[in-house]
Amino acid sequence: MECKENCVTDGIVILWGLLLIQLLALQLASASAPSNALPGCQQRCGDVEIPYPFGIGPNCSMNVGFALNCTSSNGTHKPFLNDVEFLNISLSSGQARIFNRVSALCHDGASSNATYNHSWPINLTALPYRFSSTLNKFTTVGCQTVAFATMIHKTHQYWSGCTAVCEDVGSLTNGSCSGTGCCETAIPKGISSYDVQFLDNFNSSDTYWFSPCGYAMLVEEAAFEFSTSYVTTGALRDRKLPLVLDWAVRNKTCRQARRNRTSYACVSDNSECVDSGNGPGYLCNCSQGYQGNPYLPHGCRDIDECANKDTNPCSGHCKNTQGGFTCHCPKGTNGNPYINGTCNPILTLRVNVAIGVSASLVTLMIITLCIYIIRERKRLTDVKEKYFQQYGGRLLLAEIEKIRGLAFRIFTKEELEEATNKFDMSNVIGHGGNGTVYKGVLKDYRVVAIKKAKIIDEKQKEEFGKEVIILAQINHKNIVKLLGCCLEVEVPMLVYEFVSKGNLFQLLHGKSPRVHVIFETRLRIAAESAEALAYLHSSASPPIIHGDVKSSNILLDDRHMAKVADFGASRSAPMNEVQYVTLVQGTLGYLDPEYMQTYELTDKSDVYSFGVVLLELLTGKNAVSLEGSEEARSLSSKFLVAMKVNGLYELLDDQIKDDEEIELIKAVAALARTCLSIKREERPSMKDVAEELGRLRKLKQNCLEHHKPIASFDYDHDLGDATIYHSLEQEVVMSIESR
Ligand SMILES: *[C@@H]1O[C@H](CO)[C@@H](O)[C@H](O)[C@H]1NC(C)=O
Ligand SMILES: *[C@@H]1O[C@H](CO)[C@@H](O)[C@H](O)[C@H]1NC(C)=O
Ligand SMILES: *[C@@H]1O[C@H](CO)[C@@H](O)[C@H](O)[C@H]1NC(C)=O
Ligand SMILES: *[C@@H]1O[C@H](CO)[C@@H](O)[C@H](O)[C@H]1NC(C)=O
Ligand SMILES: *[C@@H]1O[C@H](CO)[C@@H](O)[C@H](O)[C@H]1NC(C)=O
Ligand SMILES: *[C@@H]1O[C@H](CO)[C@@H](O)[C@H](O)[C@H]1NC(C)=O
Ligand SMILES: *[C@@H]1O[C@H](CO)[C@@H](O)[C@H](O)[C@H]1NC(C)=O
Ligand SMILES: *[C@@H]1O[C@H](CO)[C@@H](O)[C@H](O)[C@H]1NC(C)=O
Ligand SMILES: *[C@@H]1O[C@H](CO)[C@@H](O)[C@H](O)[C@H]1NC(C)=O
Ligand SMILES: *[C@@H]1O[C@H](CO)[C@@H](O)[C@H](O)[C@H]1NC(C)=O
Ligand SMILES: *[C@@H]1O[C@H](CO)[C@@H](O)[C@H](O)[C@H]1NC(C)=O
Ligand SMILES: *[C@@H]1O[C@H](CO)[C@@H](O)[C@H](O)[C@H]1NC(C)=O
Repeated sequence: MECKENCVTDGIVILWGLLLIQLLALQLASASAPSNALPGCQQRCGDVEIPYPFGIGPNCSMNVGFALNCTSSNGTHKPFLNDVEFLNISLSSGQARIFNRVSALCHDGASSNATYNHSWPINLTALPYRFSSTLNKFTTVGCQTVAFATMIHKTHQYWSGCTAVCEDVGSLTNGSCSGTGCCETAIPKGISSYDVQFLDNFNSSDTYWFSPCGYAMLVEEAAFEFSTSYVTTGALRDRKLPLVLDWAVRNKTCRQARRNRTSYACVSDNSECVDSGNGPGYLCNCSQGYQGNPYLPHGCRDIDECANKDTNPCSGHCKNTQGGFTCHCPKGTNGNPYINGTCNPILTLRVNVAIGVSASLVTLMIITLCIYIIRERKRLTDVKEKYFQQYGGRLLLAEIEKIRGLAFRIFTKEELEEATNKFDMSNVIGHGGNGTVYKGVLKDYRVVAIKKAKIIDEKQKEEFGKEVIILAQINHKNIVKLLGCCLEVEVPMLVYEFVSKGNLFQLLHGKSPRVHVIFETRLRIAAESAEALAYLHSSASPPIIHGDVKSSNILLDDRHMAKVADFGASRSAPMNEVQYVTLVQGTLGYLDPEYMQTYELTDKSDVYSFGVVLLELLTGKNAVSLEGSEEARSLSSKFLVAMKVNGLYELLDDQIKDDEEIELIKAVAALARTCLSIKREERPSMKDVAEELGRLRKLKQNCLEHHKPIASFDYDHDLGDATIYHSLEQEVVMSIESR
């Protein structure tokens, strides 16, 4: 309760206080409004501000030239110098505007005598004023009016004038003072007094009835706008129009004036002296950044550039300094505060945090991605490593290092992918029971055959590395060379030398027309193949059984040298019985009949298969044909039957039937028959076969050497379109030794 009353009184006290403060502030504001007059002197007269050096009253102006009268007429005050009324005074431009009356000459209609003739001269001689030569023009208005300004410059008199003429009212244009009804002319600098004179010695009776008067005056050009009514009426007669005066502190230049400090007009600090542009004398200006009255002590005051929000030169915060200002961007922004609108908000904390968070998110993502990639790589290499280990890669590597000069290497998966264009189908050169063979080109431009095996079982995997090293060590000119392998894949790949001319099967049973293959070539291929197999059986360590001897596994290089290939079924001679079971393979028609019963693969199995190859060479027929009786389907049984009934000749290939080496052919046939013995023990060893074939070859060569110059019986080049040279005039004398 008590509080309520107290609060109300407190409120009233506060309100009063506020009011007082406001009043005080207002008073201070008015007191601090700059005064341009001397202290104790009248600042204005009517609407016109009177700045020092001008002044009203005896001791308020710099000198008599600036001492004005503030005359009251009809209740309004106006400043006068003698009879010249001042409209306004500018300190900064050194100009003042006064009223000047228009001089006129009017005619009576009846006579050419003037009815009104009045000039209004201005004489400001010995005063600090000159007529502005830039802003004023001597202007004449009328229809037959010639007027002159008579001026005194120093001691000389000047005349300057112009003629305004017009034919009728219609020729006049409002606003245009260019000769028709109105003309104007410039005046020189330095003029301080003038008078107007009209020239009136011509007959104006033609025009007086619509244009009774002619006018002339010195007038501020911008303040005068011609109107046709000036010509047709007496409206302009005695009118007051503005005239601009240049004023200055007279008769001394700035340099001269500065010498006498007591008479120097620019008394304010931060003021500058400027020589007058119109007549001798000087003006004072406040220095840049200051404004006020330089003619008063401390008259030049600093401009508060920041005071007015609308003219604030800064785009940010403005701080006033003596004679200048500084700008700075508000807190939380940056940029150039002196240029409009360039204080831009600095990224706020929130934005910073957002940026930080997104940046770290991106970083995190990148790191995660990197880790993923590294892991994936590792996983891949782990997989490769797993396969590598599985196929005995370590052992293989160790072995390779042990054997000096072994041209065998382990290829990476990428290398082989590159060589075969990612195992493109167009690079496939053969499909076999054991896998697919691709042609590939290595980085060193070596052409290779890459064999991609079919999936092999666990047991074989363990042995793979071991077997590869055995195969790699085989070095025989009639055996396709194993150049390397790739273990880091699910199914290992073998890289062989590339043999260019296909295989024996293609040569004998290839596309029609059949290539003519002479007996000597057949014998050579047989002998070379036999040597290769014999090498595998007896010279390799451990001995190797080919297991799949057939014509398509005997490859031919570009010189048609035989190269035994496809070790898909190759095994080092098995040591225990368990292994036999896993090795049921081979090709129908070539299979050892005993092997089919016992599943026991021996070197004699290869001998049997080779016997079939010999038959193919002799007969040019497939090992198995799908025609004829069951007996006739197998070439070997067909052959054995034919041998019994002495029908070999019918079975022989037509290409060699006519050759005269029939005895040699018979010897080969006999050899084939022993190879094809049902019982293994009755078959010769591969070494024996090779020796016998070698012997027969020599025999053939010998008889050629002894009885006939060598005729080229060989065929040339590609299997398909080979050109065959065959000499029929050949005379061969057989001399066959009995075995
Ligand atoms: C003007 O100044 C003079 C000398 O400085 C002085 O004698 C005179 O009284 C002053 N007149 C007025 C009206 O103050
Ligand atoms: C003075 O005022 C009267 C009435 O206000 C007016 O008729 C007269 O023209 C004025 N005189 C001057 C010189 O302005
Ligand atoms: C000021 O007016 C008075 C009276 O009208 C006159 O005597 C005096 O000469 C005038 N002074 C100036 C500078 O015009
Ligand atoms: C001077 O007076 C004229 C007319 O009265 C006015 O248009 C102009 O703005 C004034 N100039 C100054 C600087 O006071
Ligand atoms: C007009 O001028 C002539 C001489 O120039 C003079 O004789 C005559 O009286 C004048 N008329 C009037 C009305 O002033
Ligand atoms: C006008 O008056 C002046 C002097 O006041 C005189 O010299 C001049 O001849 C007169 N002109 C005319 C046309 O009356
Ligand atoms: C102008 O006034 C001065 C004195 O102030 C005088 O000597 C001069 O003759 C006058 N000039 C004219 C054209 O009346
Ligand atoms: C300036 O000098 C002229 C003569 O050269 C003189 O008539 C005039 O009074 C002087 N004015 C001032 C303000 O000293
Ligand atoms: C010029 O302007 C005046 C009024 O300002 C008007 O009476 C007159 O008809 C105008 N003349 C022309 C030619 O437009
Ligand atoms: C002026 O001209 C008119 C006609 O053009 C003529 O009637 C008149 O007499 C002339 N006056 C004089 C003084 O020559
Ligand atoms: C300096 O000016 C004052 C006042 O105008 C004058 O009395 C004095 O003689 C002048 N001194 C010189 C050296 O001109
Ligand atoms: C500065 O910006 C203000 C308001 O955006 C605009 O009115 C003014 O014209 C600009 N000044 C300059 C020099 O660009």
